[in-house]
Amino acid sequence: MVALAPSILSADFARLGEAARDAEAAGADLLHLDVMDGRFVPNLTFGPVVAEALARVTSLPLAAHLMTVEPERLFEPFVAAGVGRICFHLEATPHPHRLLTRLRELGVEAGLAINPGTPVEALTDLLPEADAVLLMSVNPGFAGQRFIERTYPRLARLAELRARANPDLKIAVDGGVTPENAPRLAGLGADVLVAASSVFNSRAPVRENLDRFRRALATQGGARP
Ligand code: DX5
Ligand code: ZN
Repeated sequence: MVALAPSILSADFARLGEAARDAEAAGADLLHLDVMDGRFVPNLTFGPVVAEALARVTSLPLAAHLMTVEPERLFEPFVAAGVGRICFHLEATPHPHRLLTRLRELGVEAGLAINPGTPVEALTDLLPEADAVLLMSVNPGFAGQRFIERTYPRLARLAELRARANPDLKIAVDGGVTPENAPRLAGLGADVLVAASSVFNSRAPVRENLDRFRRALATQGGARP
């Protein structure tokens, strides 16, 4: 089954604890934390202090998506905060191989995020060292952007690379994910779907929004071909 990972980026930041508890009660599989530094991306969000506070109010696994320059500076603080998976951007470091190794040494899942403009082939020699790839389907920085259609062939290609290099690798898709495109993404090999604005919004409660995802995925079978 595909895992659903709500991103708190579009939750009410004055009530983050409630957002995390709502997501957990609604059956989310993990919580996605979008960490932005105002340099790698124009936006600025939060750091390990907020992750640590969330870890105290939810038992959902926490995954940090670091949209930061020099991401390695944040590894230990986020591990200490209780985050179990850390994804950094391939575009943010000259030494992705070393950084993946470092994350595994720290005892957390090592994830690589990749921007829409970077060829997925650039991941080929890194896949054996990674536990997860976060395939960006928007340019990182903001919630509520339109899904980039080119993601479909990129995901298919990444799934092929995975089959050869590291079948245990988890593929997550992040950005513009909705109940409408979720089944196709699952069918192409996504294991985790990250969604902010289609989970936390003013249209419906979190539970209803997650149910829409699950119904859509059930019609597709929710499994990889
Ligand atoms: C974008 C973030 C995403 C974002 C997704 O920079 O990495 O995780 O929260 O937001 P939606 O689901 O609204 O596109
Ligand atoms: Zn993200």
